[in-house]
Amino acid sequence: MASILILNGPNLNLLGTRQPEVYGHETLADIEAMCRAHADAHGIAVEFAQSNHEGALVDLIHAAKTRHDGIILNAGAYTHTSVALMDAIASVELPAIELHLSNIHAREAFRHHSYIARVALGVICGFGARGYVLAIDAMRGHLERAG
Ligand code: DQA
Repeated sequence: MASILILNGPNLNLLGTRQPEVYGHETLADIEAMCRAHADAHGIAVEFAQSNHEGALVDLIHAAKTRHDGIILNAGAYTHTSVALMDAIASVELPAIELHLSNIHAREAFRHHSYIARVALGVICGFGARGYVLAIDAMRGHLERAG
């Protein structure tokens, strides 16, 4: 059974109450439940994780190498700053999809640049919580094609 790590970075533990006009009303627990239901329906395994700490996210990416077939990463603000997360994704050689709830390209200029995009299969942004399900489907398709 294919297994996907869904990894969330800083401040995403506050979803539901954090700027709901930007990020929506769903909590991270709501999103996890939605992802689990979708993954179960398609016979794939998902592990959900969140950390506010850059090094902890690096550790989780390293640990994924032997445990998962792909990574869906909402790195939050570290998307725009973290060479360490970019290098971690490149190092484990797992397919990765960059994800954002908001459309980062319609927001402040500092959100337009992503270090993660350089090492990602693709980027999904602007679809709110539903983007997580879209990312699972995109990863599922990729893993099926990759065999
Ligand atoms: C975010 C977008 C980032 O720019 C921001 O720093 C976040 C959330 C999103 O999901 O829209 O924390 O990754």
